Amino acid sequence: MNNPEIVEHSAWKVYRRLLGYVSAYWPFLAIAVVGMVIEALSAAGFTYLMKPMVDETFVAKDPAVRWSLPLTILGLFIVRGIATWVTDYGMARTGRSVVLDLRQQVLNKFLRMSSSRFDGEPIPALVSRLNYDTEQVAQASSEAIKITLTDTLTIIAMIAVMLNESVKVTLAVLIIAPVIAYISGKVGRRYRRINRGIQEGVGHMAQAAEEVLSAQQEVKIYGMQEAEEKRYAALARNNLRMHLKVESTRASASSMVQVLAASALAAILLIAGQEAMQGRMTAGSFVLLMTSMMALLPSLKRITNVQSIIQRGVAASERLFSTLDQPDEPDQGTIEIARAKGDIVFQGVSVHYRADERPALRNVHFQARPGTVTAIVGRSGSGKSTLIRLLPRFYQPSAGQILLDGIDIREFGLSSLRRQIALVSQQVMLFDDSVLANVRYGRVDASEDEVWQALRAANAEEFVLKLPEGILTKLGERGNRLSGGQKQRLAIARAILKDAPILILDEATAALDNESERLVQEALSHLIPDRTTLIIAHRLSTVEHADQVLVLDEGALVESGTHTQLLAQGGLYSHLYKMQFRESDGA
Ligand SMILES: Nc1ncnc2c1ncn2[C@@H]1O[C@H](COP(=O)(O)OP(=O)(O)O)[C@@H](O)[C@H]1O
Ligand SMILES: [Mg+2]
Repeated sequence: MNNPEIVEHSAWKVYRRLLGYVSAYWPFLAIAVVGMVIEALSAAGFTYLMKPMVDETFVAKDPAVRWSLPLTILGLFIVRGIATWVTDYGMARTGRSVVLDLRQQVLNKFLRMSSSRFDGEPIPALVSRLNYDTEQVAQASSEAIKITLTDTLTIIAMIAVMLNESVKVTLAVLIIAPVIAYISGKVGRRYRRINRGIQEGVGHMAQAAEEVLSAQQEVKIYGMQEAEEKRYAALARNNLRMHLKVESTRASASSMVQVLAASALAAILLIAGQEAMQGRMTAGSFVLLMTSMMALLPSLKRITNVQSIIQRGVAASERLFSTLDQPDEPDQGTIEIARAKGDIVFQGVSVHYRADERPALRNVHFQARPGTVTAIVGRSGSGKSTLIRLLPRFYQPSAGQILLDGIDIREFGLSSLRRQIALVSQQVMLFDDSVLANVRYGRVDASEDEVWQALRAANAEEFVLKLPEGILTKLGERGNRLSGGQKQRLAIARAILKDAPILILDEATAALDNESERLVQEALSHLIPDRTTLIIAHRLSTVEHADQVLVLDEGALVESGTHTQLLAQGGLYSHLYKMQFRESDGA
């Protein structure tokens, strides 16, 4: 924006990269181009027929052309129809294929970029990149090419036909036509801009109305009817003003264009009349010239607008390419591990989400021995989730290291490391697919029997059997057919199927009522044995049997020990513990 030359330069680079995607489909593009040439030629051919149509059919009344001319016209349009189809199909095939490629690449990138990238941008923005930006790119890569080629060819062909007929009149047309196209384009843009303003105004008005109606009781009780009426009236008056402005722009624009067109016609008629007087022009020539001019105008108009399609496409591609150019999650480790023992050690681990903020974890040391349960407690925001996100390397520690079986986890291949970990969190992620497919997410090659075993162990068999289509029931978007506890138990079944040596539970039961929590706890008790379990628990009662409890406060590990030891210490843990009992007394 600061330096137009640089912007221009990088826009061209982006467009070239985009054309790289397009060129993969060059056979379709080539066929489309052939279609375009035929289209332009037949359009020119048709205007060329105007002359014999007038001069021979009507002026000379030549019987020889009575049949030949109509048949030629028919033939011409059949050829043109086929050419149009070929062009449109070829271009659509190219454009849609580019969209397909980009969508796949962008989604692949989304799933491979590091978790911290998702903190900077809301999910809807990412989804819009996938849907909307790729759509814009399709337009730029097919529509823009098509317009540029077809219309340029049409313009050239038309001008050739005209020049062949009368150089003088053609020159007159060539001077006047672009002026008209330019002015009407300009007027059209102003009209659209105001119109957009109106759309926004309508949006505001609707929003104001919605607000005031949904808060009608507040409006009434605070006696604010009059103020709200005034507010709405002001918006409505503004809307009226805008509408009038649009209407007057539109009306004056169309009259202006008509007057312009009329003066152009008058000027051309003047010149053509003079030519006719001198016997250099027939009625047929004049009709031919007029028809060509009419055929030129829409092409000129589209060509002048193609720039904006390209600009939108380039802006969208820029966003897409900057996504595609993001680095993948770091995955330099080479050690592949079949099944870890599950000995986890944190050595002086600190985490900064952003360099300028205070750390979310500070110098944390602990060890979780294979097959033991480590509970992590602390106030909300104390860093519990941060701690467990480090193990699957969703985030990188800013200092210190994490060892698994004595090896720095950065040295493992990422997928190999993640295979060692099963995760059940408060937000269970289910897809709109069958129960079977959702549980198989734990291990894709599991047999149906194994899935049933896992469901049984997860206390989920009973409710799955009651679903309308049993294990094949589709769960709906985000699994919204199920209750929170049922979703948790499916997540546990999934984890059982995965059978990983390390199990992470992040407030798995926090959002549940007592009965569902009991079922989920029971399911967990089948999952936990023989695994190294890290459990973030909301209710301290579920922590009592842990082998060790880590107490976090503002990112620091302030206490650790067993439940009994910590309670005896009378520190933060015992404080949290007592607070909770008071809460549940009240409840
Ligand atoms: N993705 C993130 N980006 C930036 N800051 C974060 C992110 N996740 C958590 N934090 C911050 O880190 C601190 C610890 O958060 P978290 O680990 O989620 O705590 P807990 O799970 O104990 O409630 C909080 O101050 C929180 O605001
Ligand atoms: Mg948390």
